[in-house]
Amino acid sequence: MDPIPQIYCKYSMTPLINASGCNCATTKMLNELAEAPGLCAIMTKSATLEPRAGNPEPRYWEALDQSFTINAMGLPNCGIKYYLDYYKRLDGTKHSLFISIAGLTLEENKAMLDIIFSQDTEYYKYIDAIEINLSCPNLVGHSQLAYDFNDLDMYLSELLPYIRASQDSNSAHHIAIGLKLPPYFEASQFDIITSILKKQNETFDQHIKFIHCINSVPNGLVIDPATESPVIKPKGGLGGLGGSIIKPVALANVRGFYTRFKQAGLEIDIIGSGGISTGTDVFEFILAGAEMVSIGSQLMLEGPNCFDRICTELMVIMQEKGYITLDAYRGKLKD
Ligand code: DHB
Repeated sequence: MDPIPQIYCKYSMTPLINASGCNCATTKMLNELAEAPGLCAIMTKSATLEPRAGNPEPRYWEALDQSFTINAMGLPNCGIKYYLDYYKRLDGTKHSLFISIAGLTLEENKAMLDIIFSQDTEYYKYIDAIEINLSCPNLVGHSQLAYDFNDLDMYLSELLPYIRASQDSNSAHHIAIGLKLPPYFEASQFDIITSILKKQNETFDQHIKFIHCINSVPNGLVIDPATESPVIKPKGGLGGLGGSIIKPVALANVRGFYTRFKQAGLEIDIIGSGGISTGTDVFEFILAGAEMVSIGSQLMLEGPNCFDRICTELMVIMQEKGYITLDAYRGKLKD
């Protein structure tokens, strides 16, 4: 397979990355990813400034037939420094290294960026991409920023120049900046997000290099009829849905943004995510326009061996169809 010609996937022959939150919260989990064949890049659990315990358990549940998962984890993580130290120790890995940040406020994200770009520790030298998670659905009392278009625009107007200034002062332009977005459903929502991204990239010199969509479908409810209660405890049982059942929504989001970005002349790559469990799924996401794809629920269900299996399946379907590179069919969904 061809190397993906992007700075955040520069070494690899595969388009696969783990989705943030799945098997990536501790050193042990991250080591499992680093050793898993088939993965071109590693993503951390979305980090906060300080470690967090997250929501009360049970907070994650899998359907018996493996068709979906629901979670309301509440950002349990070891804190930003833990992940940056881990990446520093991995120096020399063939993987591209993504750090996901999910500060509960703009100030918290800025504080994490200060740590990333600190000249004392030089963490920025060890990472390839920063993903700003604007779509965590599971925080009690916090709504998702990416659903409030005015706030999102104002937020980016403050955060992007802050990141740019840090990159400028450290000559750290190798780091790709991206946004993790929730699912959108209406054409008007895709139009608005595209126009916000276009405005931001015109103002801040094409600073946003990728979006990652979709995050889990927020606020689903799964009920266990035996116990007559929700299957997870936080938020009255409400949680983010993942797994095969969300794939059509995810594909529509990748396609919706891919076509609009092309029309608007926006050079922003798309990492597709949502319900990918086979090589055929990956093929469909690339056809819809994804540059890379991430695996979340399937990683939880099957473990890190899923990447190698999915890559092999992708190669088989490409060979059957006579495609030698991903570029040969990326975005070329037929009418
Ligand atoms: C959590 C869930 C998400 O979907 C996400 O993007 C970030 C965090 C969580 O509940 O921990």
